[in-house]
Amino acid sequence: MKIILVGGGGREDTILKAVIKNPDIEKIYSIPGNAGSANFNRVERVNISAEDINKITDFAVENNIDFAIVAPDDPLALGLVDMLEAKNIKCFGPNKLAAEVESSKIFAKSLMKKYNIPTADYEIFNDVDSALSYVAKSDYPLVIKADGLAKGKGVVVAESFKQAREAVLNCLKSKIFGQSGEKIVIEKFLTGHEATVMAFTDGKVIIPMISSMDHKRALDGNKGSNTGGMGVIAPNPFYNSELENFCMNKIFLPTLNALNSEGRKFKGCLYFGLMLHDDNTASVIEYNSRFGDPEAEAVLPLLKTDLFEIMRAVSEERLSDIKIEFEQKYSCCVILASGGYPGRYLTGNEITFDDEALSKIPNVQIFHAGTKFADGKFLTNGGRVLAVNAVADEPETARLNAYEAVNNIKFDNMFYRHDIGTSHLKK
Ligand code: AMP
Ligand code: GLY
Repeated sequence: MKIILVGGGGREDTILKAVIKNPDIEKIYSIPGNAGSANFNRVERVNISAEDINKITDFAVENNIDFAIVAPDDPLALGLVDMLEAKNIKCFGPNKLAAEVESSKIFAKSLMKKYNIPTADYEIFNDVDSALSYVAKSDYPLVIKADGLAKGKGVVVAESFKQAREAVLNCLKSKIFGQSGEKIVIEKFLTGHEATVMAFTDGKVIIPMISSMDHKRALDGNKGSNTGGMGVIAPNPFYNSELENFCMNKIFLPTLNALNSEGRKFKGCLYFGLMLHDDNTASVIEYNSRFGDPEAEAVLPLLKTDLFEIMRAVSEERLSDIKIEFEQKYSCCVILASGGYPGRYLTGNEITFDDEALSKIPNVQIFHAGTKFADGKFLTNGGRVLAVNAVADEPETARLNAYEAVNNIKFDNMFYRHDIGTSHLKK
């Protein structure tokens, strides 16, 4: 089989390194991919942007592609899956209508309200004056969200009226997110522990993966700016079996049924960003229509079942035939970023790996994110550069092994959090 894998970050390198284990795959075209595939001769990088859905479709047709994995939010929201399916190419990933669970927060919130799926109370606004008068009489913190996709920057947790006012004006007046921010959701602030649960679904059944905990802030102690994610542990230490039952019955299955009732059958990975409450209930903070990044880098290494077989079963709506198994182990994933991220940073620094030392650390995998390969060297090429993951029988071993691996990777201005796997233990 010949497949395309759309996307070029750490998530896509993780998917690539999992699906390439399937012997039916003769070739993976990685669009645009990164240097993580440099040593695989069954992988070819294609220099087309993940958002150029017309060119990707033409490429897939010209190259007789059998199957497409569409990993990032933007091409899903733009309707790449619809275009590929119209050409009879099977896909892992939701079509445009189903992907709106992520690409429109207003759609997601309305769906949850209509089907009684627990989430924060909210109001929708499109004009500045009503939004400002609402935030003037609200309690704080208060959460302000641009309706559409905003490269992960569309959510502001406002601590004060001043911050809320700025967020409202940025979206509705200055239009810093363009169309994505022409409407906003203003919602109540939820408290508890955050957890991610990603689930495979073919629109008929939904199979949750191992839970995980992202670390979104840039600095140790959960300080600093919000980032795309600086590290992940899996499973999430707060996600107990009571919560598992609650989420299955009150969130995951109701979401699957709600999407079907609305004529938006979802086939792919449905991501639940959850707030876990002390009474073992949970609320949905957000849905994503894809694997999380870097959650994928921590969760997929625990998957025992062949990922490509699962993806095919999802696409062919026969997921109930597959037994999906995970290792009863622990993952710790540390992101190595370029100094300055999530603000401005330099690229083009050489990355060196002490391969001998790395080969002695058990069960470590290094996934590439912002990297490129030139003149026989690996170079930094983005904010998040590498995801270093270790799997072990105990969480502490996973953590120590991940950081030992980090110590054997070098590039100028390398920057990472030191407390992935311990920050949740502190008060
Ligand atoms: P994202 O939508 O991934 O950019 O996430 C924004 C982050 O904002 C989440 O991970 C939460 O930490 C926070 N957040 C979003 N909505 C709420 C809410 N209603 N209550 C508390 N925190 C929230
Ligand atoms: N790690 C959060 C996300 O992928 O949106």
